[in-house]
Amino acid sequence: MHLKPFQTNTIIEPFRIRSIEAMHFTSMEERQQLLKDAGYNPFLLKADDVQIDLLTDSGTGAMSKDQWSAMIASDESYAGSSSYYKFEHAIQDITGYANVIPTHQGRAAENILFTTIAKPGDVIPSNTHFDTTRAHVEHAGAEARDLVIPEGRKPGLKHPFKGNMDLDALKATIEETGPERIPVVMMTVTNNSGGGQPVSMKNIKKTSELAHEYDIPFFLDACRFAENAWFIKMREEGYADKSPIEIARQMFDYADGCTMSAKKDGMTNIGGFLAVDDLELAKQCRSLEILTEGFPTYGGMAGYDMEAIALGLYEALDEKYLRYRIRTISYLGDKLTEAGVPIVQPTGGHAIYIDAKEMLPHIPPLEYPAWSLNNALYLLGGVRGVEIGSIMFGMQPDGTEKPAALELVRLAFPRRVYTQSHVDYLSEVILSVFEQRDQLTGYRVVSQSNVLRHFTVQLEPIE
Ligand code: F0G
Repeated sequence: MHLKPFQTNTIIEPFRIRSIEAMHFTSMEERQQLLKDAGYNPFLLKADDVQIDLLTDSGTGAMSKDQWSAMIASDESYAGSSSYYKFEHAIQDITGYANVIPTHQGRAAENILFTTIAKPGDVIPSNTHFDTTRAHVEHAGAEARDLVIPEGRKPGLKHPFKGNMDLDALKATIEETGPERIPVVMMTVTNNSGGGQPVSMKNIKKTSELAHEYDIPFFLDACRFAENAWFIKMREEGYADKSPIEIARQMFDYADGCTMSAKKDGMTNIGGFLAVDDLELAKQCRSLEILTEGFPTYGGMAGYDMEAIALGLYEALDEKYLRYRIRTISYLGDKLTEAGVPIVQPTGGHAIYIDAKEMLPHIPPLEYPAWSLNNALYLLGGVRGVEIGSIMFGMQPDGTEKPAALELVRLAFPRRVYTQSHVDYLSEVILSVFEQRDQLTGYRVVSQSNVLRHFTVQLEPIE
């Protein structure tokens, strides 16, 4: 027999499913009522009434049997538990940072870092701050400044590393502000608020060199560090033969520390950490940690959470997993692009971002086109995404409204949860909404709060 080796183009889910969660199906008529009862705000829907839930990739992933079994074997001691030491060892091994400070999730690490190092009048540059990062910088009285490259602000434009820092703008900010008023330069990998777009190793290196030239520490917001490492492997010259963990180690090596939400590339449902090289800074951060999170060897987590993270960080760096993960996103992106649906290009690491401004030009920004699109996805297919547009960002501190720069619907993929047929179904739903886009109408606000209104706002469709 002379059989040729079998070549396949299909990138399969690199896991079997041994525990399942049944979906609850609803009719379009039921969804019409459910959405109305929720004040036309998908945040207020019951998760059971959603079929494909793409609200976030944060804390929504499936864990492996290795993670679950490690959780059973956890050590729940208050001080010095063996689960903490496994957690610490994994983080030190991957990041190289000596001091590991556990927190209950990413924003707690941000709170500790910025409360410790930032003060009123300071400026903290980043490629793009995520909204909790921005909120904590501002809470400390400092200014959060986004300095992503101009390409990163153009949804339809293709560029391999749209999350890169604009180095000229960073230099100008340092020169104008004065390095003494910049306690840290941040870099979000991948750049969530800018479309889940990666940052190149070259840009990480150059940003690090520029910050260090002025003696400013450089930190990563490392939530999706493994996905960023994969893009470097795929797209940047010289990295094709390196493993994701080698690339990740190099990324961390250029920085002096990181904040991390383990709910993303930590592959867990909760957890996070702050990790730093500088022992003096770690000591200051630990004092605050004890006050707000817990003793430094658990910091707001159970021992079993730390066990799950210690393994999850390595599982996120597995090549087969990353290939499947990133392909899931581009697979949907290709189908949508082929059909003419405007999305942020190229597809990023954890989500598809549909450009509602481009798709629904008949709905003015302050009638919330992205909100309308997101609601239509729910009505037609039981799909829930999130609006990143004028409802989320349009409300000004003085109570007036200003259209947001972009009107996007983000469809974020939980890790290891949905299969290819779910994605096929999803693309049918999106294409059906796209074909009927002229039918979509705007919304008006019925009631709202002044801060973070998107979580609780109530609206009604404009007929
Ligand atoms: N940084 C980035 C880049 C994030 O995407 C998030 C969370 C955080 C920090 C905060 O982490 O939620 O553990 O406190 N992003 C989620 C999302 C909520 O849906 O994108 P956290």
